[in-house]
Amino acid sequence: VFDASGHRLYVNRAAERMAGPGIRQALVAGATTEVAAEVRHAGRAVSRQLEASGRPPRSFVLEGHPLDGQTLVIIRDMTGFSQLENVRRDFVANVSHELRTPIGAISVLADALAGSPAADDAQRLAQRIRSEVDRLSDLVSNLLDLSRIEALRPEIGGPPVDLAGVAAEAVDCVRHLSRNANVAIELESPAEDVRLPGDRAQLLSAITNLLDNAVKYSDPGQSVRVTVTHSPAGGAVVEVADQGIGIPSRDLDRVFERFYRTDRSRRRYSAGSPGGTTPGGTGLGLSIVRTVAENHGGTVHVESREGEGSTFRIELPGSFT
Ligand SMILES: Nc1ncnc2c1ncn2[C@@H]1O[C@H](COP(=O)(O)OP(=O)(O)OP(=O)(O)O)[C@@H](O)[C@H]1O
Ligand SMILES: [Mg+2]
Repeated sequence: VFDASGHRLYVNRAAERMAGPGIRQALVAGATTEVAAEVRHAGRAVSRQLEASGRPPRSFVLEGHPLDGQTLVIIRDMTGFSQLENVRRDFVANVSHELRTPIGAISVLADALAGSPAADDAQRLAQRIRSEVDRLSDLVSNLLDLSRIEALRPEIGGPPVDLAGVAAEAVDCVRHLSRNANVAIELESPAEDVRLPGDRAQLLSAITNLLDNAVKYSDPGQSVRVTVTHSPAGGAVVEVADQGIGIPSRDLDRVFERFYRTDRSRRRYSAGSPGGTTPGGTGLGLSIVRTVAENHGGTVHVESREGEGSTFRIELPGSFT
């Protein structure tokens, strides 16, 4: 609060933190004084945005109001909000880009099909359209999974989930894929049940996604091991280990981000898909895994070496609030 001649009368503690001692704070304090002066001069409310660079950059909104001959300035720290806004904008841009690639391919292929009389050409083109459509449908169903999982808190009221049972079901879900790829999956679980409060469908989706990757990024003849164990703290650990292509260390931090794929997996998978022109995989699988782990109060980590394989580890607490 400023008086009629621009002296500061009152500062609450939050404003003190934002506009107290410090370089960035000086910037905020300066802008606050300016806004107060503007309000006095104009005799009406004034609002101004302020971006303060630094690490991390912060953004503020300052609102000045006339108040019985004095001036009230409210400083709002909008940093979290604008980060969220950036994430949202990136997400929309990514989705659009990911959709446009197969749509573009389908359109080119359809034109070629329309102008190609030879039957075997037509068949080849139709097959490629099919594979682009499959890719689109993978993308949309992963997006739906992700939004469902992000929107719903896990159902923890139901019966405890038998994790080894879920892991066995996940192995079944990727059976077809692993057979085609000639990658064997071994499941190891302790004799006594590992039961946890949790959402069975979400946990199934998380383990299935890890297995899908382990198989997809392995070479024929290699094997994948899934282990379910109790953790000392009364929770559980699910580990999925492969001997496959591994993840370059520079990508390790980023693989859980939505749409993130390593260069190597792009090249690899596009070469593997029949006549595919676009890189396979949507890059959403691991973000689903991370969201599920977090929904259960747990974490997911990866250890990997290029050419030697990767181990993903989901740790779940025995109870969560
Ligand atoms: N077991 C693994 N071995 C090697 N690389 C992996 C493994 N798991 C994930 N990756 C790398 O991390 C990237 C992100 O994985 P993620 O599961 O999110 O996406 P994706 O498998 O490409 O597509 P999606 O799972 O959505 O079909 C992959 O593209 C791949 O580069
Ligand atoms: Mg995946």
